[in-house]
Amino acid sequence: MNRLDATTPAGNDQFDWDHFDSEAYSDHNYRSVRDDDRQIMEIVRDFFATAGVPEGARGVDVGAGANLYPSLAMLPFCAHIDFWEYSASNVAWLTRQTASFDPNWDEFWDVYRSRSPYAELADPRRALAELAEVRQGSIFDLPAARWDLGTMFFVACSLSTDLAEFQRAVHAFVGALAPGAPFASAFMAKSQGYYVADNWFPAVAVDEAEVARTLAPVATDVRLTPIEIGDPIRDGYSGMIVATGRARRPD
Ligand SMILES: C[S@@+](CC[C@H](N)C(=O)[O-])C[C@H]1O[C@@H](n2cnc3c(N)ncnc32)[C@H](O)[C@@H]1O
Repeated sequence: MNRLDATTPAGNDQFDWDHFDSEAYSDHNYRSVRDDDRQIMEIVRDFFATAGVPEGARGVDVGAGANLYPSLAMLPFCAHIDFWEYSASNVAWLTRQTASFDPNWDEFWDVYRSRSPYAELADPRRALAELAEVRQGSIFDLPAARWDLGTMFFVACSLSTDLAEFQRAVHAFVGALAPGAPFASAFMAKSQGYYVADNWFPAVAVDEAEVARTLAPVATDVRLTPIEIGDPIRDGYSGMIVATGRARRPD
């Protein structure tokens, strides 16, 4: 689907995710650490470092795409990290990068390793290779209550133009975590969609109130932080929102 068609609501299954250009996306967004990503990493790092994650946790990064910094935030806490990704091209990228990640990710790791327990992890490249399992699957098919720690960055807001799908995706992500498990998630604010190389991909224009409303039934201890951006490198959006919290325990 091209951008001109985007005035009509478009569902997740109407886009060619298997040909998402992982290299172009990663190169455009993550060649080096930008100030907005640094702010997000510091928030997530400080939350996970103090969240009391159980030893040998099982982590999951949902819709990991061509970004390693959410999963790197979980690295010191995990005995295993699943990468749950829908797109065949991103699965191939993740398989290569988790085996031995490119040097640009060292700069991202530097943001984490300024504090414990990240500082004690001597070889993150090797640790990721040992812990990672890349799996191809849809967020809408996640099992329930499987993981102890989770991340989902720019996925629920960026997989269709349909608000109901956004809400279902957020609920599927948090529902995949064990009750009480900490999570971190990031959302584009009011995004109109985005180009990856020449292909347009959809987004739903959410704000902080919508993120809070959507998380309320499934999460506790929710903390939302708006991230201002100086350089509009990503198309058609006006900032980001970071959410940290815990999967809600049954009443
Ligand atoms: C904007 S990218 C975000 C990628 C990465 N998490 C990041 O932080 O840059 C959106 C991601 O959602 C993935 N995606 C799209 N539909 C999905 C689905 N049904 N289930 C899981 N992931 C999906 C895409 O393949 C892509 O990796």
